[in-house]
Amino acid sequence: MVKIAIFGVGTVGEAVVKILQENREIIKARAGKEIIPVIGVVKNLNKKRNIELELTDSSREALDRNDIDIVVELMGGIEEPLKIVRKALQLGKPVVTANKALLAYHRYELQDIAGDVAFEYEASVAGGIPIINALRDGLSANHIKSIKGILNGTSNYILTKMIKNGTDFKIALAEAQALGYAEADPTFDIGGFDAGHKLLILSSIAYGIDAKPEDILIEGIEGISSYDIAFAKEFGYSIKLLGIAKIVIDEVELRVHPVMIRDNEMIAKVDGVMNGISVVGDRVGETLYYGAGAGGDATASAVVANLIDIVRHNKKSPMLGFKHPLEVGKLKLKERGKIESKYYLRIPVIDKAGVLAEISRVFGDLDISIEALLQKNINSSSANILIATHQTRERNILRAISKIEALQPVLSRPYMMRIEK
Ligand code: HSE
Repeated sequence: MVKIAIFGVGTVGEAVVKILQENREIIKARAGKEIIPVIGVVKNLNKKRNIELELTDSSREALDRNDIDIVVELMGGIEEPLKIVRKALQLGKPVVTANKALLAYHRYELQDIAGDVAFEYEASVAGGIPIINALRDGLSANHIKSIKGILNGTSNYILTKMIKNGTDFKIALAEAQALGYAEADPTFDIGGFDAGHKLLILSSIAYGIDAKPEDILIEGIEGISSYDIAFAKEFGYSIKLLGIAKIVIDEVELRVHPVMIRDNEMIAKVDGVMNGISVVGDRVGETLYYGAGAGGDATASAVVANLIDIVRHNKKSPMLGFKHPLEVGKLKLKERGKIESKYYLRIPVIDKAGVLAEISRVFGDLDISIEALLQKNINSSSANILIATHQTRERNILRAISKIEALQPVLSRPYMMRIEK
């Protein structure tokens, strides 16, 4: 029998206990031993919970118990779980976590401490989709050319509602919160940070890159308006918040931002709270992963799979997938200005003669070629000019935005979105 302690018994923690109890027989058959949750650590002992489990509010009490074989960390936050995970690993106890923020900042430190002790984190990225397993083990023969993922269910739910039903941003967010998908602070979801944390975890496995959230480009979906949606529909695009990791010669691009993407692409069809990830390997080609990226049962499914794996194998593969680091200095993060893409701009202007000529002069001077253009009136005197460009460098488009903002008939800073091929 294997005994586990669960730190943090919220929605996911409760679902882990229920799966272990209700699927006991099949789990025992697959793991070879029974896996029994014996203690849960919670902040509030008085809160009503729907499970039968001994609870304590003392992390120390649970960590000091000699009979605990595996520690499950589902607390959220960074500093407190960091202390607990460090301590558990130092005691030689395997750890399973769903904590993407902890890993976004401390994965290399924790990998060093773990050494040969199992440290698993399947639930930290895309909930129930076994993407860590796929990337770390299933695709380990490949150079990973790119990863493109819809990694945040809340943002995808909001965008889907805005595009398909014309729902207002705030109402769609409230619906996602009511469904239990959003983070405690929803700016983590809509600002792209949650997806950024997940992308960093995936990119460590793919590229051995030790980047922090502050090192990469992260933009959210807050600025998207009905004008952008109208433009996307008119030209056959969908809008998705994508986490993108790709290798371009010897540099790695890591970025999270909304994109316009052709609406016939597979990933454009991932709607609602679902997550979807495309991984392209140099040998296997494109592989696709789809499923529930959040919610108690889906996330707990990944946590329990890690527990079964640990009980079966103890240590299957190195935490981040590399036994030896890649050659030092071989792969670098690409600077933002050097990213190449097509771009969409929404430019609010006073609707009068000559405005378009002034704007197109800026594009011409910077050698940016326009691919499509649409005007949508705001009222009788102002309008949004909506422009899609051909491929250019991000540095050029940022210069164009500053120059256009300074033009007299332009009412405010243009809104920019990248168009993903
Ligand atoms: N808030 C996250 C989402 C949940 O909306 O996808 C799981 O990380």
